[in-house]
Amino acid sequence: MAIIEKLHILRFRNLDNQYLELNKNINLFIGSNGQGKTNLIESIYYLGHNRSFKTKNIKDVVPFEEDFLQIKAVVDDVSVSLKKSKHKSEIIFDDTKISSNSKLTHILPTQVISPDRGFVIGGTPKLKRSYLDWGVFHANKDMLKTYKSYNKALKNINTLLSSNNPNQVEEWLSQIATLSVKISLARNNYIENLKATLRKDLLSPMLSLIDVNKGFNFTFQSGWTKDVDYLNKSEIYNYLIKNKHLFFKNKHLSYGPHKATLDFFFDEKNENHFSRGEQKKLSTVFWMLQVLFLVEIGVKPIVLIDDISSELDQNKINETLSFLTQLDVQIFITDIGNKELPLDTKKTSTYHIKKGVIYNN
Ligand SMILES: Nc1ncnc2c1ncn2[C@@H]1O[C@H](COP(=O)(O)OP(=O)(O)O)[C@@H](O)[C@H]1O
Ligand SMILES: [Mg+2]
Repeated sequence: MAIIEKLHILRFRNLDNQYLELNKNINLFIGSNGQGKTNLIESIYYLGHNRSFKTKNIKDVVPFEEDFLQIKAVVDDVSVSLKKSKHKSEIIFDDTKISSNSKLTHILPTQVISPDRGFVIGGTPKLKRSYLDWGVFHANKDMLKTYKSYNKALKNINTLLSSNNPNQVEEWLSQIATLSVKISLARNNYIENLKATLRKDLLSPMLSLIDVNKGFNFTFQSGWTKDVDYLNKSEIYNYLIKNKHLFFKNKHLSYGPHKATLDFFFDEKNENHFSRGEQKKLSTVFWMLQVLFLVEIGVKPIVLIDDISSELDQNKINETLSFLTQLDVQIFITDIGNKELPLDTKKTSTYHIKKGVIYNN
């Protein structure tokens, strides 16, 4: 259950010392272009990940002329603080220093929908993996260790391959095979759970956006070639050994969970043939499906929707908001303010944002 009770953005892009006491249901931020709406959404995401969804470069998010960023919040009665400069990041929960970003992700699970992040359907494999693994991580906390070990093994193997060093290659390939099966299994299970959730009544308001008879489906691509059973450790290991010379030639491992992706289908078409409108609509359904599944297993994510009316038409806005309100998750919405949004005024706090200053209505 994640609810941000208070948010204090001390320094983040153009937001300077902005303090908010938030609504546990809906928080709507209205402002014209360039005022700081996406910055606000990004700051909440940043606090939950210790990184941005827009940039890898910390310099971009530190306010101009400053050398660190700082965000604080009270989340489910825990006070969380992140202070970060180019060389140092400091995470504090209540009075205790925390060493791992995953604790942030755990306390502040956020599902973000922003034109600056892009749509999952028709998106890059990297974006798809990031949505997929976000779900896997929240559904199965033990997987974090496996992902970390895999990344370490991959880094080591790539170092050996790029320097043409055959020492210990077999040992690392064996590690890759073992960890790969664990990751694929968890991802596969998660996808199966999403598919089961797709058939549930609770999702039907969202499904009314699409013609379900046309069949919305998605399949998991493990990152291995089709002729390898990605759940069979020895098959993967044998494949790796057999093709070792190729990897040495390429200087890196070009197969494995780090290349996994999702393929989406609708009306017997592959996502590359969807119209932009279909991509948006089906991405929204997929995001809400993830939120619903996590709510059902007891994780209540915070949903961040940036620039809602430029991304979704009235019908999708209505369905998405009434769906989320029913799930009782905390929502942050930004909007340019041209359209009337169908929000329950009793459950909504509205703010205005101008030149990085947030005004409470
Ligand atoms: N590191 C930074 N320091 C200060 N201001 C920044 C920084 N990065 C972006 N900005 C400013 O933030 C504003 C854009 O904010 P943004 O949240 O993207 O606007 P919008 O309301 O359109 O979503 C611009 O005025 C830009 O100059
Ligand atoms: Mg914006």
